[in-house]
Amino acid sequence: MKKPISFVVIGCGTWGQAHAEIFSTHPYSRLAAVCDVDSKRAEQLGREYSVPYYSNYDEMLDKEELDAVGIATPDFAHAAPLMAAVSRHKHVFCEKPLVTEKDDLERAVEAVGTAGIRVMVDYHNRWNVPFVKAKKRLREGELGEPVNGYMRLTDIQWVPKEYISWAAKSSILWFLGSHTVDTLSWMFGDRVRRVYAVSRSGILKEQGIDTVDVYMSILEFEKGGIAQTENGWITPDSNPFINDFKFNLLCTKGMVNIDLSSSNFFEIYSADKVEHPDFLVKPRVYGKPTGFSYESIRDFIERLYRGEDFVVPFEDSVNVNRVLFAIIDSATKGEPVEISY
Ligand SMILES: NC(=O)c1ccc[n+]([C@@H]2O[C@H](COP(=O)([O-])OP(=O)(O)OC[C@H]3O[C@@H](n4cnc5c(N)ncnc54)[C@H](O)[C@@H]3O)[C@@H](O)[C@H]2O)c1
Repeated sequence: MKKPISFVVIGCGTWGQAHAEIFSTHPYSRLAAVCDVDSKRAEQLGREYSVPYYSNYDEMLDKEELDAVGIATPDFAHAAPLMAAVSRHKHVFCEKPLVTEKDDLERAVEAVGTAGIRVMVDYHNRWNVPFVKAKKRLREGELGEPVNGYMRLTDIQWVPKEYISWAAKSSILWFLGSHTVDTLSWMFGDRVRRVYAVSRSGILKEQGIDTVDVYMSILEFEKGGIAQTENGWITPDSNPFINDFKFNLLCTKGMVNIDLSSSNFFEIYSADKVEHPDFLVKPRVYGKPTGFSYESIRDFIERLYRGEDFVVPFEDSVNVNRVLFAIIDSATKGEPVEISY
């Protein structure tokens, strides 16, 4: 057997902990070290896995023997560690989105293109079972060609208010709109050529979080398909699921309908409340982390180890960024924006 891939993790918050758990337990990988600007977080995770911990990733990347880097810093803080890893010729598993600034996107495309390494962004709906099954049927041609689609992916207000501390430096577009654009582009099997978007702000600003409340966008694909998207951070906390997640794709010979929220598929009623436990995203089964958000990390490790193509090609994640920049431009200008590739 080949030597396991040696990983370090940058960013030891919720998602960095998921990276660390999978890198340290998968037979094809090992965890070499972790880093967080918050030295207490780095120390806590480093001690948990008995690996060295750092508060400066340049120091870690220079000192440790490693093959690949997991980046799980906040949305706006992916570009610098990405460039630091790529310039040292290390493979990268990056949380979504790839970057949030146009200049950083061009720099990343150039650097990845010349560094001889492989990068995948964690667009993990590509491991989300209903989408995987629908995509297979679309590939097999049974449903015909996609004509029009709809995707609503919103969060309850708890997410920008409490779950993440950096909501004002990101937006629902980066946080969930990135998944929406990736999922729709993947299901249509096509690139977006034009967007028309509108946004509204005020509810979160009034509560001291300076970010957009909601984006609604129309995406026109190159082969003629059209889709409507909705990404908001203002769903009331009483919503039974963190996400309100709905998807519909009408095709020339059929239709796909996916409702990953507000269903009564699985409910547990106790004396004073009803719960909808997670069984799709990150559930534990007999202690083992399962669900699509862990499968994407495992799949990255396995394909990197075997030298196989990634499920999310780097180019697709770059294209997601181009669409998101166009959505922001369109919502700002109040007019459609064409995308050039
Ligand atoms: N794949 C998904 O669907 C999914 C789900 C949740 C989060 N995420 C993404 O994962 C990333 C992290 O999210 P999270 O929920 O873990 O956030 P978090 O706030 O829990 O953790 C981020 C950590 O990064 C650290 N950090 C910030 N700047 C750093 C730097 N320059 N160097 C080292 N560490 C730094 C922070 O101190 C913090 O501990 C985000 O981009 C988020 O969008 C992805």
